[in-house]
Amino acid sequence: MSIFVLFFYKKKNKLKLSKAAFYKNRLMNILLLGSGGREHTFAWKMTQSPLCDALFIAPGNAGTAQCGTNLTLDVSNFEAVKAAIIEHQIKMVVVGPEAPLVNGIYDFIKSDDAIKDVMVIGPAKSGAIMEGSKAFSKTFMAEFGIPTAAYQEFTLENVEAGYDFIDTQTPPIVLKADGLAAGKGVLIIEDKAEAKTALKEMLEGQFGDASKTVVIEQFLDGIEFSVFVLTDGKDYKVLPVAKDYKRIGEGDKGLNTGGMGCVSPVPFVDDVLMQKVDERIIRPTIEGIQKRGMVYKGFVFIGLIMVKNEPYVIEYNCRMGDPETEVVFPRLKNDLVELMTAMSKGTLNNHTIEIDERTATTVFLVSGGYPEAYEKGKAITQLENTEDVLVFHAGTKSVDGQIVTNGGRVLTLTALAENMDAALALSNKNAEIVQFEGKNYRKDIGFDLK
Ligand code: AMP
Ligand code: GLY
Repeated sequence: MSIFVLFFYKKKNKLKLSKAAFYKNRLMNILLLGSGGREHTFAWKMTQSPLCDALFIAPGNAGTAQCGTNLTLDVSNFEAVKAAIIEHQIKMVVVGPEAPLVNGIYDFIKSDDAIKDVMVIGPAKSGAIMEGSKAFSKTFMAEFGIPTAAYQEFTLENVEAGYDFIDTQTPPIVLKADGLAAGKGVLIIEDKAEAKTALKEMLEGQFGDASKTVVIEQFLDGIEFSVFVLTDGKDYKVLPVAKDYKRIGEGDKGLNTGGMGCVSPVPFVDDVLMQKVDERIIRPTIEGIQKRGMVYKGFVFIGLIMVKNEPYVIEYNCRMGDPETEVVFPRLKNDLVELMTAMSKGTLNNHTIEIDERTATTVFLVSGGYPEAYEKGKAITQLENTEDVLVFHAGTKSVDGQIVTNGGRVLTLTALAENMDAALALSNKNAEIVQFEGKNYRKDIGFDLK
């Protein structure tokens, strides 16, 4: 058979393949890294895809164990990740949290001959630095004209200049550790003298190397929201917008947490505002990524604030949000594995995002004491009595068949309904049903959107 004839022979036979056989040819084993509510939501969504054969989650939680196989491995140990990829014949690695990305897991996999063909969902180190360094992201925004708070950066060498800069600012003063600080690296301080002391402490290593450089920026007074973008490095698609409630206390009082609840869509984010976000922020961000030659095949999470109807960037993250994922993915009708394959292969432009018009809300149940010291190992009961919600596990594990608490944020209850009040009623009702000693949650998620 000549090559030409062979080509048509193959093509003709391919067309005859049934849909099932077509999917069978593309079936793959997937490895998901992470252990939070975000990862349980990824696992829940990916296992709905006919492209997902076996799903492995490292290290996962009691919820992800219901979607696939949890692997006990330290995701900061890239050699251990490689061994798991080979052992389980993984074709796609989905990276949930930022740390492995900032530390270069993409580059590690792509530069190893044994595993370089594996798809990695997330940016290379050159892209993850958008989250890994606040100073980098501020310079990036300045270069590409992306609206953000005015700022300057300081190190111990020019701490005096930092004090002078604080004197020129109108409080509150916003101090940000340059590097990753587990969500704790931003201080907002009313008093200038206190801000100067805090600056010195940060520069002297309060957050280790992460605060050897500190960004001081103008305080923006407005209302926050989060936008999520999928990109293959050239094209992009925008996912539903969400609003996270970060403070531990009702009325947005008290300490910052990883996030106590979320709502999607966000009523004040109308088409006019989204168009501004697209033109002034998303498009120049993706163009900037290209112009800087950054390798980016993953999610861009843009933390935004609306001040007098104008959007400004608070921060970039190189991953999905948690608990934002828990309201965004339930509204996404597309096959997530198909979208992630397109991100990896550079074919995102062939896809159209389809969104469920209903409102999604989620309410996080947390351990007593969180975000300060808390106890683990409390039995979680009544899970079987939840109704009309998706239960996404975060800090949970299974001990002898009993699910117990294993973190500050324990699990979150996502509801979908025709409007926000109806969805919140379901999330809150189920938050009452699930029990564990010390359970705490906010009963006022969405309070400022009504
Ligand atoms: P980040 O880690 O950069 O997201 O900051 C954590 C939180 O600090 C944000 O979600 C905001 O609530 C707040 N924040 C950060 N930067 C500013 C700013 N320039 N103005 C007002 N609030 C800010
Ligand atoms: N919920 C905020 C974050 O994921 O960073």
